[in-house]
Amino acid sequence: MLLQPSYSAFRFSTSTMSRTRRCRVTMSSDPQNAVVVGCGGVSIDFLATVAAYPKPDDKIRSTSLKVQGGGNAGNALTCLARLGLNTRLISKVADDSQGRGILDELQADGVDTSFMVVSKEGTSPFTYIIVDNQTKTRTCIHTPGYPPMIPDDLPKSSLLSALDGAKIAYFDGRLPDTALVVANEAVRKNIPILIDAERPREGLDDLLKLADYVVCSAKFPKAWTGASTVPQALVSMLLMLPNIKFVIVTLGKDGCIMLERSLDAGPSTEEVDIDNFLESLALKRNKTVPIPTCISSSVAKLKAEGIGEVSGKLYVGTAESIPPSELIDTTGAGDAFIGAVIYAICAKFTPETMLSFAANVAGAKCRDLGARSGLPYRADPRLGSFILEKISSSA
Ligand SMILES: Nc1ncnc2c1ncn2[C@@H]1O[C@H](COP(=O)(O)OP(=O)(O)OP(=O)(O)O)[C@@H](O)[C@H]1O
Ligand SMILES: *[C@@H]1O[C@H](CO)[C@@H](O)[C@H](O)[C@H]1NC(C)=O
Ligand SMILES: *[C@@H]1O[C@H](CO)[C@@H](O)[C@H](O)[C@H]1NC(C)=O
Repeated sequence: MLLQPSYSAFRFSTSTMSRTRRCRVTMSSDPQNAVVVGCGGVSIDFLATVAAYPKPDDKIRSTSLKVQGGGNAGNALTCLARLGLNTRLISKVADDSQGRGILDELQADGVDTSFMVVSKEGTSPFTYIIVDNQTKTRTCIHTPGYPPMIPDDLPKSSLLSALDGAKIAYFDGRLPDTALVVANEAVRKNIPILIDAERPREGLDDLLKLADYVVCSAKFPKAWTGASTVPQALVSMLLMLPNIKFVIVTLGKDGCIMLERSLDAGPSTEEVDIDNFLESLALKRNKTVPIPTCISSSVAKLKAEGIGEVSGKLYVGTAESIPPSELIDTTGAGDAFIGAVIYAICAKFTPETMLSFAANVAGAKCRDLGARSGLPYRADPRLGSFILEKISSSA
């Protein structure tokens, strides 16, 4: 049985942004020196923007090009390092020019790479990414590194020092054998676990069983549960994974939905159909506001037809409304979002503040080519209302 970490900060959630903002200053804490351990993928991304996606056998030219570090874990930890946290990355590269580039770039961003495994032989992971400037899609062709990471690559002493003092451990579902060893050790040390569930993968289910928090891509909940709607799938996930406190599904420009488990729903709690409940909540969204906002429901018994029910609270977060001329590339938007969610957990933000903050960080990322160029730094004025105000008020 997992020991649950304190979750008290989220009990103070309020339903409007203005109340959230006033409360945040006193209830959140500056996570500046918090340690985050990440285990998962790193890569070199070769990004090419094209005016329109090519047909097979076409010959076309790129309109812009960038070679830059990538990989879910590499990106999310870079996001956190730029926000001022101490980040330790567990992954593997080969001793080739790409592998050295991956490590140099992470170090330049302040990510601790001393737990990275460098293979003398083999090749480092790399990804070709075609960004279509018309449809704003990013098509990825990934080649995993070789040889793959195995648990024996990481000596027990390194594993223990990597997790020493960690506030949270994050896994992107890659390197599943190693990830499971790291996650099991994190559980032993009472370190909460966040999983990025991008798509069903080998070994992911074992990791999910250890998770406290799950963030998934739009297609994952239905694909993993077989439920016919996303809200029903979220109920199903909370039933199948009794340790998780919340699950978030990100929906690109349509923002995100979060289902938070409530433990304290009394017998008088309203019983509702989750699909209808979400629909009526989403209607309350003010679509004319360009900045990310978040609205929440009351605690209710949320029923999913044919699946079951959980006591919980729904949150609907909007994405930033980015003018087409400023929307450059969505590669890694999910990683930026997750980095910000991890920051928010460490800072004990309310869920409303967390989701608005994450959409701001992800929106900043979308304004530049590549998974990392647009990731904001701690002093970025766009994050001012979330970070700077708090620092000055606590100083
Ligand atoms: N076109 C967009 N405009 C504004 N915000 C966006 C856009 N696309 C993504 N975002 C922001 O990023 C968040 C995550 O995006 P998305 O759901 O596409 O993640 P993802 O599919 O996991 O991405 P990736 O795999 O490329 O990292 C969204 O919830 C939203 O806040
Ligand atoms: C994308 O298209 C816009 C308008 O069609 C153009 O102004 C911009 O230069 C293009 N960007 C790239 C990188 O191709
Ligand atoms: C939406 O927000 C805008 C700007 O804050 C405000 O002027 C407008 O009245 C709001 N609309 C609704 C329906 O709440």
